[in-house]
Amino acid sequence: MNSLTIHQPDDWHVHLRDGDMLKAVLPATAAHFGRAIIMPNLVPPVVTTAQAEAYRGRIQTALPTGSEFMPLMTLYMTDDTDADDVIAGYQAGVVKAVKLYPQHATTNSHFGISDITRAYPVLERMEAAGVPLLMHGEVTDPQVDIFDREAVFLERIFDPLVRRFAGLKVTLEHVTTQEGVDYIIAARAGIGASVTPHHLMFNRNAIFQGGIRPHYYCLPIAKREQHRLALRRAVTSGNPRFFLGTDTAPHTRTAKEAACGCAGLYVAPVALATYAQVFDEEGALDKLEAFASLNGPRHYGMPVNARRITLHREQRFVAEDVSVAGEEAVHIYRGGESVGWRVEVHA
Ligand code: DOR
Ligand code: ZN
Repeated sequence: MNSLTIHQPDDWHVHLRDGDMLKAVLPATAAHFGRAIIMPNLVPPVVTTAQAEAYRGRIQTALPTGSEFMPLMTLYMTDDTDADDVIAGYQAGVVKAVKLYPQHATTNSHFGISDITRAYPVLERMEAAGVPLLMHGEVTDPQVDIFDREAVFLERIFDPLVRRFAGLKVTLEHVTTQEGVDYIIAARAGIGASVTPHHLMFNRNAIFQGGIRPHYYCLPIAKREQHRLALRRAVTSGNPRFFLGTDTAPHTRTAKEAACGCAGLYVAPVALATYAQVFDEEGALDKLEAFASLNGPRHYGMPVNARRITLHREQRFVAEDVSVAGEEAVHIYRGGESVGWRVEVHA
């Protein structure tokens, strides 16, 4: 197969940031995806409907002219989240979902939930109103090894939560482990997981290949090879619970190439080419459309995009970096290499 035409994909997990960084990175996401779930971990975080609406306005202003890209906004859950505001924002069509970060789990998560039970009253209201919950699935207990944080999260937090709120729609974001995959496959209805391109591409050895490699550092951290293979099997299985979420998370080179470098990869420019490569390597290109374009809308109860795209098997060189306001550089995942697929978006 040298070209593949599918419904336009959506990105169910992206960090677009704000200000000059937003202007620098938004075009790559808007160029390929119909819609995207916009993560709320700005500084300060997006915690109210009014803030989400204002942020959506800034994204729309930064869009290239003529773009029909639709940002789907989320709220950042804190210990003080106002359930009335969440429900009102959802019913007004401003808020699409609520993101829960365990406190200190990752970038800008210090306002996150300190104790999961503090979220329960809001979750009860979300369950009743049909508001989806998006979870960063890692425990923050310093006693737990960084490579075990997802598996322990499933046991301690995720499983009790999805049982207690049996009607709540929940996404396990950026699943990275065999345990996560197994859990999602066996879970009750209404549970899904997003999978990034990079967790399908490399395992934890990449972070230490010949020296420390900050551009392979993200959270959840890449795991052992067996886990990467489990993720590949999951996405190519056709199981509707797994869908595309790039976790595009740009940081400047200065912020990443540091003694304490930031977590996150800037993957949007090569995301679709990378997913296509993975599905091709697995002999499952026929399953790519379900993962990229159908399963996400089904999980979130939204229509599939009418627009189509064509993936062409073609070598394409990827620039090393994108520049922010002509100054700081953000390294692009796979930048400086060739990727094997080109994306054509139809009118
Ligand atoms: O690697 C990550 N980067 N993981 C996250 O959960 C957050 C993200 C970011 O915002 O940079
Ligand atoms: Zn993320």
